Amino acid sequence: MVRSIESITEPHYQSMSKHGAQGTIQASALSRKLPRHVAIIMDGNGRWAKRRFMPRIAGHRAGVEAVRGIVRACARKGIEVLTLFAFSSENWRRPPEEVGLLMELLLSSLQREVTKLHENDVCLRFIGDRSAFAGTLGEKMAEAEALTRDNRGLKLAIAVNYGGRWDITQAARRLALKVAAGELSAEAIDEVLVQEHLCLADLPEPDLFIRTGGEQRVSNFLLWQLAYTELYFTDTLWPDFDDQAFEAALASFASRQRRFGLTGEQVEQLQSG
Ligand code: FPP
Repeated sequence: MVRSIESITEPHYQSMSKHGAQGTIQASALSRKLPRHVAIIMDGNGRWAKRRFMPRIAGHRAGVEAVRGIVRACARKGIEVLTLFAFSSENWRRPPEEVGLLMELLLSSLQREVTKLHENDVCLRFIGDRSAFAGTLGEKMAEAEALTRDNRGLKLAIAVNYGGRWDITQAARRLALKVAAGELSAEAIDEVLVQEHLCLADLPEPDLFIRTGGEQRVSNFLLWQLAYTELYFTDTLWPDFDDQAFEAALASFASRQRRFGLTGEQVEQLQSG
């Protein structure tokens, strides 16, 4: 069977389901030198602190400074979306003191930064299982989202109590409920529909994934959404991830040929046509 380039490129949902003009979108996605969406696992805070004979929480505090830096850099460069993995569903297994201090740090950072983010036109959202944040933190998250909802600048998604498997599971559960309610037939469930029920469904998929701290794994982050993302791993510890380190990641991204399952020849054909 001969398949057209459009049908071969199907997994790129943005171009497939929402934007119609597939050829144009696909060609621009293939030749894009600046990512539209950057997703980061901010690893290495503990080791950063340990090297300085400081408590781990000092590393997380330094990590917040690095968060400020990356948000500023993304806004300045016109990157559309930044997703940060702040706390995974597995991080609850850490010593209770560290979990408590991390939650305090999240709350204090949120309270301190939200006005500045709003002034800078940043649209903030939190992704993950919110049921764990029923108290003040949950309220502050909802308030920050409501305040910044209509902002048109950088979209900043903070993953808290997030897991990629949880994300896919909650999408499956919502689809199953629709089938049970008679709103949807099981046969109608396809990849596009699953994608539409995941976190970040309304945003472009990540173009560039960065993990600091030397480990080379995705650790249950955005499992579905990373299917065609360029992966970048660096030994730099998160608190040391400055503008220069980000430039190196962006340069690596710009040097890659993205294929979305096509052959190199097909990519060149699309880019020249
Ligand atoms: C991983 O380093 C980092 C975390 C689990 C927490 C990340 C949180 C922050 C940077 C601060 C809060 C974030 C926001 C968005 C305000 P690690 O502790 O696993 O480091 P290690 O591998 O060296 O032990």
